[in-house]
Amino acid sequence: MIQHIKDDLYQIGEHVQNEYGFEAILTYVLLNDGNPILIDCGSHVHRDSVMQQLDEVLKGATPEYIFLTHSELPHAGNIAAVAERWPDIKVIVSNVMLPYIEVLPVVPLEQITQVVPGTKIEFPTRTIEFVDALLKDQPGSHWIHDPRTGTLFTGDGFGYFNGESAIDQLVETADDGVSQLAFEQYHKVAFRFLRWIRPERLAVDLRKMFAKRNVQVIAPIHGNAIRGDVQIHLNRLIGALTAVKESYS
Ligand SMILES: [Fe+2]
Ligand SMILES: [Fe+2]
Repeated sequence: MIQHIKDDLYQIGEHVQNEYGFEAILTYVLLNDGNPILIDCGSHVHRDSVMQQLDEVLKGATPEYIFLTHSELPHAGNIAAVAERWPDIKVIVSNVMLPYIEVLPVVPLEQITQVVPGTKIEFPTRTIEFVDALLKDQPGSHWIHDPRTGTLFTGDGFGYFNGESAIDQLVETADDGVSQLAFEQYHKVAFRFLRWIRPERLAVDLRKMFAKRNVQVIAPIHGNAIRGDVQIHLNRLIGALTAVKESYS
């Protein structure tokens, strides 16, 4: 389902049912003044639907870039179809990803660029920053910040499972927002290492990351974009990470 998030930012994708509810598998699109950017490209399982939704959002524009948050199939699985449709597309991945091994060899190597955290890519009307993912499920996970829309794309971080009725709802307000429990249930499954973390240290780093940047939208791949009170949701996520850690003690 296509959702307009803010300015030139759109969210597309599908939900899959699991034992916890429904999990989103999303792709974000920045129209970027006619040179669109895809953040991840969806799962091969949803290929037809994702390509149809991309066509609808792009309205004939040719996407210039895919920025991959990481290489797992729900994020990169659709890359073959995207590269077949738009063969000149450039793919940006983390510097610790192994492109030929982790990304199917469907894009010529010269079209794949590896970036270190802190790298900024300049466009005429925006600068995109690649940020070290503070919640990683792969060494090559990174987050992406778009100051123009105030969006932090958080890959698997900040994901949550939805009830069926919430699938098509964006998170607008704290009251309607994602609960600490919803973050807790998802993060416990998605990040098995949380039993070994020091939540207070991670909380400091998360707060610093948000304080340094304009974040008005949190855009996880596994949960509709969160446009409500970002600070409240950051607090809830930190509470959830602490609760996951404590659940092992
Ligand atoms: Fe992942
Ligand atoms: Fe994922």
